[in-house]
Amino acid sequence: MQGAVENPDQVIPKDDHILLTARDVTVRFGSVIALNGFTVDIPRGVIGLLGPNGAGKSTFIKASLGLIPRNGGTISVGGLDPQTQSLRIRDDIGYMPEHDCLIPNVSAVELVSYLGQISGMGPRDAMQRSHEVLDFVGIGEERYRLVKSYSTGMKQKVKIAQAIVHDPSLLFLDEPTSGMDPNGREEMLDLVRRIGATGKTVIVSSHILQEVERVCEHAIIISDGRLVRDGKMGVLMAGEEGLFNITIRGVPKALEGFVRALGGVCDIVEKTDEGTNQVALSARGCGDGRRVFALSKEHGVQVRGYVPDKMSLEDVFLQAFQGGGSRGY
Ligand SMILES: Nc1ncnc2c1ncn2[C@@H]1O[C@H](COP(=O)(O)OP(=O)(O)OP(=O)(O)O)[C@@H](O)[C@H]1O
Ligand SMILES: [Mg+2]
Repeated sequence: MQGAVENPDQVIPKDDHILLTARDVTVRFGSVIALNGFTVDIPRGVIGLLGPNGAGKSTFIKASLGLIPRNGGTISVGGLDPQTQSLRIRDDIGYMPEHDCLIPNVSAVELVSYLGQISGMGPRDAMQRSHEVLDFVGIGEERYRLVKSYSTGMKQKVKIAQAIVHDPSLLFLDEPTSGMDPNGREEMLDLVRRIGATGKTVIVSSHILQEVERVCEHAIIISDGRLVRDGKMGVLMAGEEGLFNITIRGVPKALEGFVRALGGVCDIVEKTDEGTNQVALSARGCGDGRRVFALSKEHGVQVRGYVPDKMSLEDVFLQAFQGGGSRGY
């Protein structure tokens, strides 16, 4: 979204690939260690922050905003330290907290405009911008109603609107789809995608792995206050090299002949019958696929799919937690 009101407080450099760096960050609440030597480099883009309940996701977000102090380690957001330069950084960061943060007895348009003024806009610009961001998130005439009359889904949208009112470069969304029905979640994911498409970096925490898989370009998995895995989605989800998933369609006898012949030239690691006329295979060592297609012609069957193996984010997650570390998801 290109704001009509330019953000004069942009402090985050436009071109650095890595936007946020955390090194050995520790945050304690009494005897609880919420972040325990957490280290990560976060690039630009739409970034998923994943982890079980109590993993430290919200703590990391708050520490990156300078809302809570660190007990050790360093955080740099666009070269600035959120602990010592928190006001400057917050001018260029938007934050949608996990829990309800809206003032109930004002209308959405007043609330968002008021928060725009707190961010340094004049009253007229703030009101114009409030209308723009409420349009963007899909709040219509309801914007003149008191926030306390809103559904959970509408409140979540207003929470996003207040986070982007000052046109920040970096946005933290803490569980934006929490409490929403499937349609509301779809709308919210679409919003995240649209915000990401404007060139802003969006760091979004979520429990729903399929959501992160669909909208994020990069994921960070955190557990017990430590980084478990991170990387580009395509790299994290790449399956075993050389393993292909093949779907074949044909009459049962032809299918049988094809599978037997394929088994003679490469290693079939899994075979699933999908009805009487289709079979799904996972096979290793089939080379560039020409052999598979030649055999299919020979046996009078049709290759419906021939794709490299790919893991779901759920597989990645489970693999990351093999051997313990998770407090249950
Ligand atoms: N203000 C606080 N006082 C005491 N303990 C806290 C406080 N905030 C967080 N904690 C503890 O720190 C740990 C990390 O909490 P955090 O809220 O960062 O986890 P999370 O990954 O966001 O979890 P969730 O998925 O449930 O939102 C938890 O054990 C939590 O109970
Ligand atoms: Mg949380």
